[in-house]
Amino acid sequence: MFLSFEGIDGSGKSTQARLLADHLRAQGRDVVLTREPGGSPGAEEIRALVLQGDPDRWSAETEILLFTAARRDHMERTILPALAAGKVVICDRFADSTRMYQGLSRGDLRGIVDELHRLMIGREPDLTLLIDMDPETGLARARGRQGSEERFEDFGAGLQRKMRAGFLALAEEFPRRFRVIDGARPIEVVARDVLALIAREAV
Ligand code: ADP
Ligand code: TYD
Repeated sequence: MFLSFEGIDGSGKSTQARLLADHLRAQGRDVVLTREPGGSPGAEEIRALVLQGDPDRWSAETEILLFTAARRDHMERTILPALAAGKVVICDRFADSTRMYQGLSRGDLRGIVDELHRLMIGREPDLTLLIDMDPETGLARARGRQGSEERFEDFGAGLQRKMRAGFLALAEEFPRRFRVIDGARPIEVVARDVLALIAREAV
């Protein structure tokens, strides 16, 4: 089973992915918890290139190539071997993030993202949990982390609003795969919803 968490920056994806992994492991499941960009040594190197530095460091087109290159390495070295071994893979962001951040942020490049995905990745998660919440709260949470990986957070609240609307539209485009969860509630309440949903989907 291949699960992904999606949503705007600061929506609580990493927190919920970790709690779900802990819960499934406590049930005796073999779980690989991973993230994008990153999740393999090569992809983690690309992560530093795309998440650090000025917002205008890369064009959207160059970013599509870099994120897809990172994803290809992550698939080859981490995700596909784990799935082949029967493990549950929980991925903090996946291709839907590229569809949004590179596909929508600077013009409509969704067609290029999808074409490259078809050529180089060719696989979607079995289930995608979209943690939805208002962008101001998300951005405040994300900025509270005080990290150096803030290129996209520096694009500001306007981008986050566009991303939120885009993710909700994506959930409507792929209703079989997507489930939307209200992230503007306490961590443990959101986590309870995630577990109930996963139990229903018979992971
Ligand atoms: P994301 O991975 O979506 O960027 P994180 O899980 O890293 O989000 O959460 C961002 C920050 O917000 C962290 O400091 C985290 O502890 C906090 N946080 C996460 N979920 C909640 C929540 N439901 N309510 C309040 N704070 C939260
Ligand atoms: P992440 O570490 O998940 O950030 P956050 O915890 O703030 O949500 O992802 C870092 C940033 O990378 C995030 O702003 C979204 C961006 N991103 C893309 O632009 N394209 C992609 O394909 C992926 C996976 C992430």
